Amino acid sequence: MKKITTASLLEMKKRAERIAVLTAYDATFAQLQDRAGIDVILVGDSAAMVMAGDSTTLSATMDQMLYHVSCVSKGIERALLVADMPFLSFQITPEETLENAGMFLAEASAEAVKLEGGKPVIETVKRLVDAGIPVMGHLGLTPQSIHKFGGWGVRAKGKVEAAQLYEDALALEEAGAFSIVLEKIPAQLAAKVSQALKIPTIGIGSGPDCDGQVLVNYDMLGLYEQMCLKFVRQYRKLGEEVRGAVKEFITDVKEGNFPSAEESYYTETKEDENIPHYPRP
Ligand code: KIV
Repeated sequence: MKKITTASLLEMKKRAERIAVLTAYDATFAQLQDRAGIDVILVGDSAAMVMAGDSTTLSATMDQMLYHVSCVSKGIERALLVADMPFLSFQITPEETLENAGMFLAEASAEAVKLEGGKPVIETVKRLVDAGIPVMGHLGLTPQSIHKFGGWGVRAKGKVEAAQLYEDALALEEAGAFSIVLEKIPAQLAAKVSQALKIPTIGIGSGPDCDGQVLVNYDMLGLYEQMCLKFVRQYRKLGEEVRGAVKEFITDVKEGNFPSAEESYYTETKEDENIPHYPRP
């Protein structure tokens, strides 16, 4: 078992080995995914949606993210652990941003942070990298800007936005980012950006030519049923499994079939002599 680091990802790109990334929010899923051999675990601010039940990622807070990252870190031995910086945790003063990013590494055992945006975050990225904090960029459909975009549609379909995204990707690399997530952009643009960069791109809804792919674990397992996205491949339908198991449990309890004698504890004697008798008042 060789620990994955930011340097390993660069090596993987050099030898054209695809990078597999999944999100996780708790130690149990993190351990299952780590043992299965996932390369990177991202504690996404999608936690606000799949954990907290909100309709966007905007409500995720530093405290919540620190908690999830810390839980996930306890399940990981091999994968690189990346913490997503929540809305307004890095669009603030440089000092506060550095403090927030640093907390993910110092207090929650993350090994890198991810932050959304292009040009406006370049100076921030430089500052964090200079301070020894590896940064993953995130371009395209950046969910923290959902209200600016006005919906979850594909980004950078037009020439101007595509050119801006291309420039942003180069600038993020120049600023020291070790990788960039490309979310929901045309496959041709993602291929072009991936070719132009030395650092790996991680696609989500951005076609097959990125250097790696990321999915939200609850999406690919069929657990999150509120949104059905074209780019999500459901590897299992665990939502159906969970509903089925819960229904069986309910029936067993209602019909007195759970617990069985084997699932119960008894004293040695058949009588209830070990159980104290209290006189009735
Ligand atoms: O928050 C998240 O889960 C993400 C990934 C989907 C890239 O940003």
